[in-house]
Parts: sequence; structure tokens; C-alpha cells
Amino acid sequence: MAKEGADMTEETEHMIDKNLGKEGDNVESSAHAKEMRAVMLAGFGGLNKLRVTKKTMPEPQEGEVKIRVKACGLNFLDLMVRQGTIDNPPKPPLVPGFECSGIVESVGENTKGFEIGDRVMAFVNYNAWAEVVCTPVDFVYKMPDEMTFPEAAAFSLNFVAAYMMLFEVANLREGMSVLVHSAGGGVGQAVAQLCSTVPSVTVFGIASCFKHVAIRDSVTHLFDRNTDYVQEVKKLSPEGVDIVLDCLCGENTGKGLGLLKPLGTYILYGASNMVTGETKSFFSFAKSWWQVEKVNPIKLYEENKVIAGFSLLNLLFKQGRCNLVKTVMEKLLTLYNQKKIKPVVDSLWALEEVKEAMQRIHDRGNIGKLILDVEKSPTPLLVELSEGLLSNWLFVQSHFAQL
Ligand SMILES: NC(=O)c1ccc[n+]([C@@H]2O[C@H](COP(=O)([O-])OP(=O)(O)OC[C@H]3O[C@@H](n4cnc5c(N)ncnc54)[C@H](OP(=O)(O)O)[C@@H]3O)[C@@H](O)[C@H]2O)c1
Repeated sequence: MAKEGADMTEETEHMIDKNLGKEGDNVESSAHAKEMRAVMLAGFGGLNKLRVTKKTMPEPQEGEVKIRVKACGLNFLDLMVRQGTIDNPPKPPLVPGFECSGIVESVGENTKGFEIGDRVMAFVNYNAWAEVVCTPVDFVYKMPDEMTFPEAAAFSLNFVAAYMMLFEVANLREGMSVLVHSAGGGVGQAVAQLCSTVPSVTVFGIASCFKHVAIRDSVTHLFDRNTDYVQEVKKLSPEGVDIVLDCLCGENTGKGLGLLKPLGTYILYGASNMVTGETKSFFSFAKSWWQVEKVNPIKLYEENKVIAGFSLLNLLFKQGRCNLVKTVMEKLLTLYNQKKIKPVVDSLWALEEVKEAMQRIHDRGNIGKLILDVEKSPTPLLVELSEGLLSNWLFVQSHFAQL
């Protein structure tokens, strides 16, 4: 890994597409040329499939908002897109990315609710990792004044997914218990914060042990991902838990179902176990599929258990539930304004550093969310803790210390 990291730093300089020329990271000059910088995925596979290139700037169609992007969210899902591990991916070359924040630059015909200059965050069905993005108005939300662009880019996907799973699917209420994998990650930290808005909720978090010092206060009980978490939970709560949030899949499906109390809900919302090496592994894919417990509805009936699946992107882009998501977003922004939740930003990266940023998720190094900062210049060394990030951590620590 260390060697890969060193190679990549060198490679970063070469990532900037030769066509980009000297003005490559000059936003104004690309705006004049009606061209923009974007991260391009040339084909499914390893990190070498990614590069920054110039693309024609999109113009908003009817019902769309054109956003001058400031920050983009980098999710575990983007790693799976790069590898080609997701179902029905679009054909590369493509610009990855599902969420961004920025400033409205123009709006298409018959587009109501937004004006030039509005600070917004948005979902995008691919194409988010670029200087300019156009997306339907239904996927765009105004940012609170106090929210920074990196925070906004870290907010939408993680908090909406966490909220909908906890409150729409599993009906989280006072006194319940929740088990969450990857507790230190983007969704994991959103789950922990949202659980803290409901009285007396017990959160069992699982994460790599080097993260425990940083996230210990955000959950009730924390286990190393390499321990036998089923036994650990049973020691503390012999009856099991009310809600299992499983983003790993494979053998964890059976373990999660086994841990449910009567009337408990298991939600599958990811398949991180399918990612092992830098490129798609058919062995991990098959292993994960094979290990998934084959569930018999009659057994669920006898045991009084609920099994569910959740995919926010499908809900938004395939199943047309943007109004429901808008309602959820309003509730989340109220919680944000009440200072009850705040996205945890792990680090900021220039577009040209996308490979290093992805490697950080791959190496399980992130605590909270990775952000591509469109205006950041590439720096060969890793990010320092900026003032903004520090304030995030102070919030997390003081917030959970009060509970
Ligand atoms: N269904 C939805 O709507 C939805 C929405 C957002 C995210 N998701 C899913 O939720 C999960 C978390 O997403 P996220 O974007 O917030 O990412 P994240 O949790 O920040 O992802 C990175 C973390 O995942 C853990 N991990 C588990 N298996 C891993 C593997 N094979 N390789 C590398 N890291 C692994 C690592 O933490 P530890 O080492 O501490 O475990 C790592 O630090 C992903 O499975 C994602 O696909 C689903």
C-alpha cells in the first residue's frame, strides 16, 4: 500500500489531462471557453481509469438548474462505480459523482424556486465531479446560511439515507437499539447523530479499531470490526437489537437477522464486502452473494422479523420519489439549524487528487466524509486539518459529550 501511495503522488501530476494545458485549474478561463474541468472515468477498473479532463460545459434544459460547483461528495458507492461492481452501470467514459454543492449560475425554462446566486446542494445522476453541473430542480435544495460548501456536499446522501432508513423504514422510537456497521464513515456518523436526536436509543457501532478514540462518544457501544460482534452484542443485550443497518452484505446478513429482536427490522443498504482489491473481484462478488442468508418468508412470519432494502439513488432516479426526499431534507435542515446534527468532513481533496482520496476510503482511513473541493489546488501531501474540519470535530465531541 505504501508503495502504491508513493506512486500515486507522482501520478497525480500526470493525471491532469495533457489537453488541459496551463490554464487547467483556472475556473474563469475555462468558463470563458465554455469548457470545464471534470473527473473522467475512462472505463471500469482501477485508479488509473480516472483523470481530470476538459469537457464541454452543460447548459440547463427545461426544469434544470445550472450549478457552479464548489464541493462534491465522494462516497463508497463511487468506488463501486469505478470498479463496475454496481448493477446496470452506464457505459464509460463517464463523469462520476452523485452529489455536490455550489452556486446557481442559471436556470432552464420553466424552472421555479431558484435564482442566480442561490447557495445550493444537489443530487446528480452521475456528472457531479465537475466544475459545472446541471440537474433537475427536484434534486436541488437551498443551503442554510451557516452551512459551508464542504458540509453541504457531505450532507445530502449520508443524512437522507440515514434518516429514511431509521425513521421511514425502521420507525426508530424512544428506547430502541440500533446496530450500525462502518460507524466511523459518512453514513455511519449520520446514523449515530440522528439516533442521538431520539431519547434513550442505544447504538452498537462497529468500526476499525484505530477510529475508536475519535468516534467513541458518538455511539453507545463500539466494537472492532475484527471481533465477533454477534457475541459482544448478545453479552450486552441477550434479546438482540431492534434495528440492524447492514452495508456490508455477505455473511453479515445472516448475523444481522440472527441479532434481531421480535418485531425488529434488518435493512440491507450496501455491499461493501464486495470490494476487496483495486479492481472488481469476481471471487468477492460470488462469495458475498453465496454467503447471503436465503430468507424464507415463513421463517420471518414465525420469528416476527422484518427484512428490508434501501437504495436512495434508486428511490430518486428510478422510482421518482423526489417529493418524499424533499420532505425528509426539510426535516434534516431543521435539525441542522437546531444544531442537533452536523456532517463530519474527513478531508478535502482537489479534483486532481481523486485517486488519493479514493485510496483513502479503500484503505478504511476516513472518519466521516471525503470531499472533492473544486477550487482546491492539488497538494502532493495529505490534507491538514483545516479550520472548518476542526470545527466539525469540536461539534461532534461537544455534542456527544452532552448526551
Ligand atoms: N443504499 C443507500 O442509499 C446508500 C447511501 C449511501 C451509502 N450507502 C452504502 O453505505 C456504506 C457506507 O457508505 P459511505 O459512503 O458512508 O462510506 P464510508 O462508510 O465512509 O466508507 C468507508 C468505510 O467503510 C468501511 N468498509 C467496509 N468494508 C470495506 C471495504 N471492503 N473496503 C474499504 N472500506 C470498507 C471502512 O470502515 P471500517 O474499517 O471502520 O469498517 C471504511 O472506512 C457503503 O456500503 C455504501 O455503498 C448506501
